Amino acid sequence: MNSFLARKAFLAWLITTVTAKTIQIPNTTPQNAGIPLDSFMSYSIELSSFPDFAGNLSHPNAFSYNLLRNIASLSSTPPIIRVGGNTQDYAIFNHSLEIGLFGVYNSSKSNDYPTTISIGPAFFESYHTWPGMKFTHGFNLGRDSPAARKALLESVPYACKSLSGSSLVAWELGNEPNDYAGVVRPESYDEVEYVNEWLYWSRAIRAQVDKACPESASDSNFKFYAPSYGLPDAGLDVVKTFEDDVDSDKVISHIAIHNYIDGADSPGVTLQGTLMNHLSNRASINVHIDAKRKLAALAHTQNPNLPYILSEHNSLYSEGRPGLSNTFGAALWGLDFNLLAAANNISRVHMHQGTDYRYQSWQPIATAKATKGTKAPYYGNIAVAAFIGNLSNYQKPRIVELPLSDGESSAYAAYEGGRLVRIMVINLMEYNATDYNSQYINHYQRPVETYSFQLPAGCSGEAKIQRLMANGSDAITGCTWDGFSYNFELDNGLPVRLGNVTRGERMKVDDGGKLSIGVPRSSAVIISLDDE
Ligand SMILES: *[C@@H]1O[C@H](CO)[C@@H](O)[C@H](O)[C@H]1NC(C)=O
Ligand SMILES: *[C@@H]1O[C@H](CO)[C@@H](O)[C@H](O)[C@H]1NC(C)=O
Ligand SMILES: *[C@@H]1O[C@H](CO)[C@@H](O)[C@H](O)[C@H]1NC(C)=O
Ligand SMILES: *[C@@H]1O[C@H](CO)[C@@H](O)[C@H](O)[C@H]1NC(C)=O
Ligand SMILES: *[C@@H]1O[C@H](CO)[C@@H](O)[C@H](O)[C@H]1NC(C)=O
Ligand SMILES: *[C@@H]1O[C@H](CO)[C@@H](O)[C@H](O)[C@H]1NC(C)=O
Ligand SMILES: *[C@@H]1O[C@H](CO)[C@@H](O)[C@H](O)[C@H]1NC(C)=O
Ligand SMILES: *[C@@H]1O[C@H](CO)[C@@H](O)[C@H](O)[C@H]1NC(C)=O
Repeated sequence: MNSFLARKAFLAWLITTVTAKTIQIPNTTPQNAGIPLDSFMSYSIELSSFPDFAGNLSHPNAFSYNLLRNIASLSSTPPIIRVGGNTQDYAIFNHSLEIGLFGVYNSSKSNDYPTTISIGPAFFESYHTWPGMKFTHGFNLGRDSPAARKALLESVPYACKSLSGSSLVAWELGNEPNDYAGVVRPESYDEVEYVNEWLYWSRAIRAQVDKACPESASDSNFKFYAPSYGLPDAGLDVVKTFEDDVDSDKVISHIAIHNYIDGADSPGVTLQGTLMNHLSNRASINVHIDAKRKLAALAHTQNPNLPYILSEHNSLYSEGRPGLSNTFGAALWGLDFNLLAAANNISRVHMHQGTDYRYQSWQPIATAKATKGTKAPYYGNIAVAAFIGNLSNYQKPRIVELPLSDGESSAYAAYEGGRLVRIMVINLMEYNATDYNSQYINHYQRPVETYSFQLPAGCSGEAKIQRLMANGSDAITGCTWDGFSYNFELDNGLPVRLGNVTRGERMKVDDGGKLSIGVPRSSAVIISLDDE
């Protein structure tokens, strides 16, 4: 047997082993099912890139707005845009600056974003270009010169006047202060110093809000995402931070932590081993489950029992790696990671974006480095929103992971009103099919894995099938959700039905309540049972 045939025989064996398992679906909502917050599928935008993503009042970015509204209509709640990140702590307000943002790059610090930044009053215009969307604005805590502190307070009236009423979800103060020690603070910087500093400046901000926008300074309106650590316990520990009473003013509304699976330049990082890998996602989520459990065990006075969210996350830190973070495989990674978060009450996810970033869901403008367009990861975001479903419904969707997950695939169930409404199956096995990756193209037919489910008693009739598809895990274009493309060049990010992709599949549930579905490698499917 030549090696090609041997491989084929091996694959056939793999396919039959998967077929053998039948996954039992609980009859009613399992007690431990996760409850996502509204706007579960949200975004974080690098502060220095926000004018590119949003535009300004004379030149609003309609393409970005269309992509955000697609997510909003699938979940019936708008994505929340967290404006912040590394550049939040570089940006110094200058009230005389006529343009929104002026940034200077220093290649020994970063090629991806400016590290010397001024923002002017016009920066805040960008909060008005996407009606109906909601925001968090990140204030600078990192720069602590007297001039920077004065500029922080001067920016507050502009910020609070731009973000009043329902468009403001929370403020933020400082980005990843767990990394300040030895960089912008002395080596000895610890939780106690952070808490003192955070309380001092959050109170100073409140005093300015109270002068300029009194209604936004009330107990119910003045809220923060905090502490914005890079991880729960790297450098500073979130549990110790709450023990030290960072929330003594009761102004924190969400415990907000960041996450990346690994680094763009870390050795040994691969698509299959690092991203398209449920076990790696689970290890990453476990760090947060552990922190959440410890926070919940704190004394009542220190534990506000707040929702725990990821206020910034994506695949590989340092803005992602080409060939990994920008592929359809990364879309499947994000789909699995975000649903695993939802199933574990990590109750909102803000996927980080920046102009020219390799892991971005879309490039908002044309630059010398990247073409304006919808990128593969966006299709994963759409599938997340479609699966989680209607978050403004009084019967909140609840999400559980199904016991299938072996690293190579995963499955989730969504319940509404105690009833199973949707199943998601994600196949995470690589299949290469794209020209730029010609050396690695798989010259065998794309294997189709079969998954069988025993549905709850009473499920019968037909199920609706919707697929997340591309030619392979290495595809960076040609992705579709349920037969639709959201590409820029078709209709500026609005959904466009493609004639060459299957849509409208239906499947009969058999008399015993069993359903089997074929899922091509490197693709995902939603099976909806609530459809007439
Ligand atoms: C999620 O939160 C709900 C409501 O508090 C709870 O019943 C459920 O057990 C939690 N599940 C997990 C996995 O934390
Ligand atoms: C603020 O911006 C104005 C107008 O561009 C400029 O003249 C001034 O030097 C800036 N101030 C600082 C402190 O950078
Ligand atoms: C608004 O955006 C346009 C296009 O990017 C730019 O030319 C203009 O300078 C911006 N206006 C301000 C006030 O920044
Ligand atoms: C760029 O950053 C390096 C490292 O922090 C610094 O030594 C250098 O002075 C900076 N260059 C400029 C032009 O600011
Ligand atoms: C979501 O639920 C709300 C409240 O029940 C309803 O008004 C809205 O039409 C639903 N949205 C969709 C897209 O079905
Ligand atoms: C797919 O291509 C990548 C390189 O882009 C390679 O590392 C990987 O092993 C290939 N996967 C398969 C299943 O051939
Ligand atoms: C996907 O595969 C089809 C059929 O081989 C091919 O015609 C099409 O150009 C491919 N699309 C992309 C984006 O590679
Ligand atoms: C389907 O059509 C689109 C637009 O014409 C094209 O870009 C894409 O490659 C086609 N996909 C396949 C799988 O043939």
